Amino acid sequence: MDVQGAVAVITGGASGIGRATALELARRGADIVVADLNDTRIDEVRAEVEALGRRFLGVHCDVAKDADVERLRDEALATMGHVDIAMSNAGVAMLGPAEGLSMEEWDWILQINLLGVIRGARAFIPHMLERGSGYIVNTASVAGLFAYAWDHPTYITAKFGVVGFTESLALYLRPLGIGVSVLCPGLVNSNMGDTARMGGVDDISRWLQSMPLEEPVEADAVGLLVADAIRDDRYLILTHPEPTLDRMGRRGADLDGFIDAQIEHLPHPPNLYQ
Ligand SMILES: NC(=O)c1ccc[n+]([C@@H]2O[C@H](COP(=O)([O-])OP(=O)(O)OC[C@H]3O[C@@H](n4cnc5c(N)ncnc54)[C@H](O)[C@@H]3O)[C@@H](O)[C@H]2O)c1
Repeated sequence: MDVQGAVAVITGGASGIGRATALELARRGADIVVADLNDTRIDEVRAEVEALGRRFLGVHCDVAKDADVERLRDEALATMGHVDIAMSNAGVAMLGPAEGLSMEEWDWILQINLLGVIRGARAFIPHMLERGSGYIVNTASVAGLFAYAWDHPTYITAKFGVVGFTESLALYLRPLGIGVSVLCPGLVNSNMGDTARMGGVDDISRWLQSMPLEEPVEADAVGLLVADAIRDDRYLILTHPEPTLDRMGRRGADLDGFIDAQIEHLPHPPNLYQ
């Protein structure tokens, strides 16, 4: 897709990966709609996008709410006239044991990280199909490609869902002229710690041990990757390609063996009941 003159809607676009993608697309000539809960950071991105000479719309939007995402679509179309790129990127992190987290805690993260992405697709697919063009980018994680830790079951569950949902969208929409990409970052420096929650344990220090990932990359570099993938119509976007593809290959070839190797590699979890 030619980004020059396009309109891009980005949820979670006020910070981190979403902000970096908004700015990179604006540099390449796109007008930007940012949907986020953080109004202060929306205004910061507004100033940055407008300084690049592009139009900007900020929408206070909770991707966990149907009505907010529908209003986002309506306001984006009313202000910008059309939408070419819809990036569902808003996400939060949660730490805690599968059985110790409450169902409210499970609901919080699944509503944002998984159903938020589905709401975004439901909102913009009809408009894109009517026009016969468009591009959807969904932010998952390497946590959607393999279980990288034992202490993030909610996050991993949501991100596996995003990967499966987005792959099915690719089969559906690419033959109809709509691009689809899934972004699966490894660690990225961002503000995710501001919204992260923990639950189900008294002493969290026993749980912060199972992060076997590589060194973080800067969010700006991820913005470049996303803009390039949209330009090139490339499905899979990785920030740490070599180790991620290596793990995907070993996982695909022998899932039992891959799980055994992960257990060997990770610090063992505490037994909370002994
Ligand atoms: N940072 C990483 O290491 C990393 C790795 C893999 C995947 N990701 C994913 O990248 C995406 C972006 O995260 P980031 O690292 O840039 O974090 P970030 O916290 O810097 O940015 C996320 C933005 O989403 C917004 N947000 C949170 N809940 C929202 C909601 N309910 N409705 C609307 N907006 C909401 C936040 O206000 C924030 O501005 C997330 O989906 C995250 O899971 C991040």
